[in-house]
Amino acid sequence: ATVKSVEFVQACASLAGCPKPTLPEIAVIGRSNVGKSSLVNMLTNRKSIAKTSKNPGKTQTINHYKMITGAGSYYLVDLPGYGFANAPEALREKWAEFTREYLLKRETLITVMLLIDSTVKPQRLDLECLDWLGAAGIPVTIVFTKVDKRKKIAAGKRANPQETMEEFCREAMDNWDWDELPPMIYTSSETAEGKREVLNHIASLRQF
Ligand code: GTP
Ligand code: MG
Repeated sequence: ATVKSVEFVQACASLAGCPKPTLPEIAVIGRSNVGKSSLVNMLTNRKSIAKTSKNPGKTQTINHYKMITGAGSYYLVDLPGYGFANAPEALREKWAEFTREYLLKRETLITVMLLIDSTVKPQRLDLECLDWLGAAGIPVTIVFTKVDKRKKIAAGKRANPQETMEEFCREAMDNWDWDELPPMIYTSSETAEGKREVLNHIASLRQF
């Protein structure tokens, strides 16, 4: 699963504007500020191939990164986040619209990595997003972010987001036509924890 090289291909704001669907792709989705772009940097060994910010709403386009690995090539796709309260409504709707169209219609999409902040209880929007992906029949991998921060919170006070996600999945699975719970992986873009696990998981999908 070693990444041999990575290349930023392009940014676009519509499905039609995406690169030709010649490679399988893995998209990264989640709340604004959850660490999507940071995860892309961590997975690609590049400090800032994807632009990150402490302010939510940094990524506003569909960004394709071409990953060349020993096992084949694929696109890793960074997306705008949801739940960015400060964006003007018109903008928010536009992002949601092209992101939704991309997720529903991109024929080469093999899984969506849904990022969940491991330091807090999953939010209503996270569960709504998961429900939407499940109902749409889009395969999901749950990736918990910022575990380095989680370790600084006293054990008794830590939220258990995995429990919430599993419980929610178990209740909804019949509606979604899933046979098993989605894979769940813990990561930190600060310490690179979980990096190998995510890359190995992607490689295990073996559709490239
Ligand atoms: P949008 O593009 O706005 O949707 O956000 P995003 O999900 O791409 O988040 P981004 O990667 O820009 O990171 C948001 C903030 O969280 C930045 O200040 C990052 O440094 C921080 N961050 C991301 N991942 C981690 C992590 O694993 N640990 C810690 N401690 N901070 C992180
Ligand atoms: Mg981003």
